[in-house]
This record gives sequence, C-alpha cells and structure tokens, in this order.
Amino acid sequence: MLTRDLHDAVAWVTGGASGIGATVCRQLAAGGARVVVSDVDVERGETVAAEVGGLFVSTDVRRPADSTAAVALAEEAYGRLDLVHLNAGLSTGGMTLDGFDPATYRRLMDVNLDGVVYGLVAALPALRRAGGGAVVVTSSLSGITPLPGDAWYAASKHAVVGLVRSVAEPLSADRVTINAIAPGFTNTPFIADLVAVFAADGFPLLSATEVAAVVVRLMTGEDTGQVYALQPGRPVEPYRFRGVPGAGPGQPPPSPSQIVSGDVMRG
Ligand SMILES: NC(=O)c1ccc[n+]([C@@H]2O[C@H](COP(=O)([O-])OP(=O)(O)OC[C@H]3O[C@@H](n4cnc5c(N)ncnc54)[C@H](O)[C@@H]3O)[C@@H](O)[C@H]2O)c1
Repeated sequence: MLTRDLHDAVAWVTGGASGIGATVCRQLAAGGARVVVSDVDVERGETVAAEVGGLFVSTDVRRPADSTAAVALAEEAYGRLDLVHLNAGLSTGGMTLDGFDPATYRRLMDVNLDGVVYGLVAALPALRRAGGGAVVVTSSLSGITPLPGDAWYAASKHAVVGLVRSVAEPLSADRVTINAIAPGFTNTPFIADLVAVFAADGFPLLSATEVAAVVVRLMTGEDTGQVYALQPGRPVEPYRFRGVPGAGPGQPPPSPSQIVSGDVMRG
C-alpha cells in the first residue's frame, strides 16, 4: 500500500549524477516529484538535473555543510523535503590487506559512512518540518555478505546497515521511514572495468532501472528498518536477520541485560 504520493513530493538524491542515483532522479521526476540532485561531478549532475527539470547542487558528502546546503536549497526552492536517497559511494578499487593505504581508507569511510551520517542528520529537521518522510540508503550486497576483494568497502556498507536498523525505531515517532538497499553487482560506471568480465562469464547483473524502482518503492511504502537484498532473478524482499532482534516500530532494541546475558541471540 502506498503511503506517499510522488506527485509534488520533494526529493534529494546524493550521487545523483550517475548510475543508480541518476536513475532514481529520473524515476522520481517521472512520478511527479521535484528533485534536488547532489554530486561532486558538476557537469553530469547538471545534465541530470536539467533532464529531470530539477536543481543541481555541487555536494561533497564528506562535508556536513554541503549536505546542509543541499537540504536548504530543497526547502528554499520547493518549500519542503519529503524523500531522501543517500546514495553517493565509492570503492577502494580492491585495496588488499597488505596494500593498506590510510588515505584511501579514510576517503572511503568519509564518503560511504560519514556521508550517509551527515546526509541523514542534515535532512532530519526538514523531514520533521514536512510532517514526515522517507530515507533510503544505498548499502550493497557486501553490506550483509563478506567481500574479500575489498574488505574496507564491505565494512563501510555493513556500517550503514547497522545505522539504518538502529535509527528506524526512534525515527518512527517522526513519521520518517528509513531503509537500506543491498544490491548485487549493478551495471553502472561503478563497475565499468568488470562488465566485460562478467559478460564473458555469463554472470547476470542488475540494471540501474531495477535497483531504482526498489528505491522508489521504499520511498512510497510503509517499511522501515529493512534491508532489501537485490540480486538478479531473486525476489525483492527484506533480508531476514534470523535470530537477532529486528528494527523499526514494535521491535524494541535489546536491553543491556539481554546483551550481557547473550539472550539477544535467542530472541
Ligand atoms: N554498481 C554496483 O555494482 C553497486 C552495487 C552495490 C552498491 N552500489 C552502491 O551504489 C551507489 C551508487 O553507485 P553507482 O553504481 O550508481 O555508481 P556510479 O559511480 O555510477 O555513481 C556514484 C556517484 O557517486 C558520486 N560521488 C562519489 N563521491 C562523492 C562525494 N564525495 N560526494 C558526492 N557524490 C559523490 C560520483 O560522482 C557518482 O556520480 C554507491 O553507494 C555504490 O557503493 C553499487
């Protein structure tokens, strides 16, 4: 059941210049939403914004003030903010354990984890002023599974899953839903170097269109605190965290005594 109508909703999308984010901008605009596109890639970001009849704002999600400015633009230009897709992300390009480079690691965490935290904190007051809203965070399948080829990326994507599941319950009082998507390999510039290898192996990829449709569905639905694992040919449904407490309203977090006694695993 839809709880929100895209028509006239105001959306903010980070990493909106390319791939999944750009496709979400297009689908939101097609549904009647007004879209603020954020990215560090000014040229492509402006192109997407023009295409969807929205606004572009140069935003480096590593800087909290940039997210605050993007939210302010949405409210100034469109009067409100309802929908947020915290999607900007990057990988280390396969940094190994022995090849650890602190600067590469810092940049990854600054974008993939801190960028989501700053975006959420910047958006919340505006979502509350709008009477509620929806946030979707782009994690990754490697936010719920190991990724030996880029353990740092997996760590950053696991981190945002924990964030989403933890804040869902308190945000429900503000009528704000928050969910994560955990897509497998998706055919975007993000994996440009791998597409030919996957094709040669017959390995199926998700399309940005499929992934964006799930983002829009989560923005207009009632779910909260969920992580949607997305894989080609598999049903689109929340990942089941078996044997541990859930997230969202009606799912109280474990008490300190449960954690100390280990009872959470039996709950
Ligand atoms: N493509 C995949 O296989 C795949 C799979 C799972 C998850 N993801 C995640 O999906 C999200 C979107 O990736 P995509 O596949 O569309 O890739 P993409 O490279 O096409 O888009 C990522 C966008 O993020 C922007 N960006 C990077 N650093 C930024 C920063 N500091 N501030 C603002 N914007 C910044 C880039 O400029 C780019 O436009 C990422 O979080 C990525 O980790 C991708």
